[in-house]
Amino acid sequence: MPEVSARPVPQHVAIIMDGNGRWAAGRGLPRAAGHREGAKAVRRTVEAAIAKGVRYLTLFAFSSENWRRSPGEVADLTFLLKHYLRSELNEMHAQGVCLKIIGERERFGPNLTAELTAAETKTANNSKLTLVMALSYGGRADIVAAARKAIASGMAAAALTEENFAALLDTRGIPDPDLLIRTSGEVRISNFLLWQTAYSELLFTDVLWPDFGAATFAAALDEYATRERRFGARPA
Ligand code: IPE
Ligand code: IPE
Ligand code: MG
Repeated sequence: MPEVSARPVPQHVAIIMDGNGRWAAGRGLPRAAGHREGAKAVRRTVEAAIAKGVRYLTLFAFSSENWRRSPGEVADLTFLLKHYLRSELNEMHAQGVCLKIIGERERFGPNLTAELTAAETKTANNSKLTLVMALSYGGRADIVAAARKAIASGMAAAALTEENFAALLDTRGIPDPDLLIRTSGEVRISNFLLWQTAYSELLFTDVLWPDFGAATFAAALDEYATRERRFGARPA
C-alpha cells in the first residue's frame, strides 16, 4: 500500500487581492463599496489562515503603482486602511497575529506611518500567524532598495550572495511564499514579490476578492496539496 502522508499545508501564502472594483461595478455600487467589502474578506482570510495552520500570510493591499489611481480612490483606500488597523488591531493581537508591513509606508504620511509602526511593535512577540501587509509595495523597488543597501555597505561584489541579498529585502526573515493566489481572473504578478516568488506555486481564481473567504481559501490549499514541487531537481 502506498504510504499515506498528511497533505502539506503551505507555510506561507501570499495573495494579490484583486477585483474589488469589479465586484462593486457588478452591483452598481461605487468602487469604495468594493474596497469596504474587501476589508471584510481580509478579516475572514486571516481567520481562515490561522484555522488552517498557515504561519505566514502576505496580502498585497496597495501597490507602488496604485498611487496612479484617482486622488479620491487613493483617499478611500488610505481611509479604509487606517480604519481597518484601528478596528482590528486588538482582535488580531488577541489572536496571536504578528503584523509586519512591507513597502514604502512613509508615502501614506507621518500619522499613518507612526500607527503602522506602533502596530508592528505591539504585535512583535506574537507567533500564531505573521500577517505581512504589502503597502505601497513594488517588487522592483524592493530589489533596487536592497541593491542600494548592498552598495552603501561597501560590500565587495564577490561577497554578494542570494542569501545575503535576500536579507536586505523588505521580507528579510520571512520564508518565500509557498503559494501565491491572485483573485479576479487576472493572470499577472503586477510587480508583487518578484524575487520571493521564484519557486512559489501560482494559483489564479476567478473569485473576486470581496467574495473570498474560508471556503475559497480551503479550496486553494487543497489545490496546493496536489502540486508537485521540484525546485528544478529530479529523482536520480
Ligand atoms: C483590488 O481591487 C484592490 C486594490 C488594488 C487596491 P481593484 O481596485 O484593483 O479592483 P478591480 O481590479 O478594478 O476590479
Ligand atoms: C494589484 O492589483 C495590486 C493589488 C492587488 C494591491 P491591480 O488591480 O492594481 O493590478 P493591475 O493594474 O490590474 O495589474
Ligand atoms: Mg485590480
